[in-house]
Amino acid sequence: MEILLAYYSKTGNTEKIAKKIQKALEPLGKVELFRIEMANEYGNRLLHLNPRITFDCLLRRKPEIKATKNVERYDALIIGSPIWYFTFAPPVNTFIDKLEKAKGKKAVIFTSSGMGKEKFTKGLQEKLQSKGVKIVKAISVKLDQIDQKTLQEICDALKP
Ligand SMILES: Cc1cc2nc3c(=O)[nH]c(=O)nc-3n(C[C@H](O)[C@H](O)[C@H](O)COP(=O)(O)O)c2cc1C
Repeated sequence: MEILLAYYSKTGNTEKIAKKIQKALEPLGKVELFRIEMANEYGNRLLHLNPRITFDCLLRRKPEIKATKNVERYDALIIGSPIWYFTFAPPVNTFIDKLEKAKGKKAVIFTSSGMGKEKFTKGLQEKLQSKGVKIVKAISVKLDQIDQKTLQEICDALKP
């Protein structure tokens, strides 16, 4: 089976999780990683003091991204995002908005956050459901600390 794992990561944690999931899912098939990139990336310093990040999050903006992905040929999707101000990252908002032909696809979502609270996955889940995507597993990870048990649960949830 072919799975697309699309993610955005600013400080590397979401990307580390993405790579761990990719490895854990090797027995299931090919997991292609797709890094969501912004047309105009946020600066790297003092992220908490960056007004563009704050307002993009609070106003649920959809900043331009460099590329989208045609998801039609994939058997399942995995979408990952950091949590900023209790919500998923704005470029992921754009990516999902532009998703086409995702209706009926199975998806696992994961978020990376400082607190790792379960409820942090809710917004991402609802956004994807509005596109007709079927969420089979939602995981809230603290930073990059995803354990073997959770990786196995993702594998089980995606099994045909
Ligand atoms: C601007 C900003 C806002 C954040 N807001 C939250 C938050 O609301 N709740 C939380 O638990 N962590 C929050 N964090 C922590 C990040 O979610 C955490 O560091 C995450 O692992 C970052 O993922 P990344 O390394 O893939 O970019 C915030 C971090 C930044 C930079």
